[in-house]
Amino acid sequence: SIVNSQLRTGYHFQPPKNWINDPNAPMYYKGWYHLFYQYNPKGAVWGNIVWAHSVSRDLVNWVALKPAIEPSIKADKYGCWSGSATMMADGTPVIMYTGVNRPDVNYQVQNVAFPRNTSDPLLREWVKPGHNPVIVPEGGINATEFRDPTTAWRGADGQWRLLVGSLAERSRGAAYVYRSRNFRTWIRVRRPLHSAPTGMWECPDFYPVMMDGRREGLDTSATIDVFGHGHHGDASNQKIKYVLKNSLDLRRYDYYTVGTYDQKAERYLPDNPAGDDHHLRYDYGNFYASKTFYDPAKRRRILWGWANESDTAADDVAKGWAGIQAIPRKVWLDPSGKQLLQWPIEEIERLRGKKPVILTDRVLKPGEHIEVSGLQTAQADVEVSFEVASMEAAERLDPAMAYDAQRLCSLRGADEKGGVGPFGLWVLASARLEEKTAVFFRVFRAPAAGGGGKPVVLMCTDPTKSSRNPNLYQPTFAGFVDTDVTNGKISLRSLIDRSVVESFGAGGKACILSRVYPSLAIGKNAHLYVFNNGKAEIRVTKLTAWEMKKPLLMN
Ligand code: FRU
Repeated sequence: SIVNSQLRTGYHFQPPKNWINDPNAPMYYKGWYHLFYQYNPKGAVWGNIVWAHSVSRDLVNWVALKPAIEPSIKADKYGCWSGSATMMADGTPVIMYTGVNRPDVNYQVQNVAFPRNTSDPLLREWVKPGHNPVIVPEGGINATEFRDPTTAWRGADGQWRLLVGSLAERSRGAAYVYRSRNFRTWIRVRRPLHSAPTGMWECPDFYPVMMDGRREGLDTSATIDVFGHGHHGDASNQKIKYVLKNSLDLRRYDYYTVGTYDQKAERYLPDNPAGDDHHLRYDYGNFYASKTFYDPAKRRRILWGWANESDTAADDVAKGWAGIQAIPRKVWLDPSGKQLLQWPIEEIERLRGKKPVILTDRVLKPGEHIEVSGLQTAQADVEVSFEVASMEAAERLDPAMAYDAQRLCSLRGADEKGGVGPFGLWVLASARLEEKTAVFFRVFRAPAAGGGGKPVVLMCTDPTKSSRNPNLYQPTFAGFVDTDVTNGKISLRSLIDRSVVESFGAGGKACILSRVYPSLAIGKNAHLYVFNNGKAEIRVTKLTAWEMKKPLLMN
């Protein structure tokens, strides 16, 4: 393998070996966080899918248990695919998941499973009742594109509802609503909750968020008691918005919209006009098939997402593993109401070493860079705040490209001199900079028509120089950061973990996870720099870099 074993991640979730994909049924139960995930017990490529199961007290240290759900009945004989957990009214968790019951065409049905023993906080054993499957593709539904049931939510009428992702006519991605009183008999609502001409919707997720910038999360069935009045799903309740997320099979990104939910009509209406439907992403990088859950212990909503490898399948087989989970992120609605904010769960900060390296008030002239030395940076957490003295030098944004962040960044990578920026971090860099992954900003001036010359911030990850090894997939990732930079201030945080660079721009307004496989910048030979390749002077107001420890327990 060209991939060095030191590139195995240190603090991102992964099992000792084999293939993993989607996070499944994350939940909190009797003091334990549970994570299930799609897993191939037999190798480092996708196949033979079962639900692996790990538990944690703190979302940082993990202990692997036996797989929780494996093919064992007719309705899941050829695979136990993705699904979600719901806490029933009496506090018992229930899992709904997709079973594949025909080998030839991946015919998909939805099954239910219950804990054998609810007094076991580890929920080690799961029982599939004999009446499975509980949902089958009927009424013209495409049986080979019908999967990934969501957490159910309970309406004011006492009925449970969940979504199943699908592909409707004319290539429309669709989220179908099913209703039930007992998790056994499910009736489909004829029209989907929502649909759009995007191709298949995998792994839908649907949940309420609080308005007015409150960071607290809401239970998926958030009701009546949340505000002491009003009721759940009532579109007139001005305190709640809904988020609908879908994983677009064709593009391999997780897109979401913010909108309102009309429970009577069983319809979701995105706030943005149609067409804008697929603008926002949780992450502009390698992050897919994600799922949130409500954590009642800390009253927050947490997002889990899968990051695939970017080396070759042959490398994966040689190294014996493929796939990680991103660091769990707390999610909440931005005070603007227009998008979500995301931030690594606070628990991860416990892995920070005691003595961070701190730089303050350092000026980066055009073309300058500064090394952040005095610590090991192959496994690190870096927070930096920048200040741009003047936006004068900002380049005009080409209106034709105004909305294609990724193209903009791939045409103008980190080494292309600019006006304001590119400036940011070179991470996992070799001593002579033959290898480096750049995480950076470029500030443009909006075309007059699109915002009257306002500064537009682009955030990019450029891995094109990340390794001297050939055959790696090294896409440039980018997104616009909807942040006001009139005061010149912008922040960046990067979680660096050997072959992962997971970055958060402007306090979590834009996130980019990238997988890279350096050939030189490995272990002690990995360096960290701040750089400025623009014409405008950049001030590093403060940079704090911590070494990150390994969790004591990682499966
Ligand atoms: C998404 C996905 C899901 C499916 C699972 C199978 O990555 O394709 O739609 O349930 O993976 O492993």
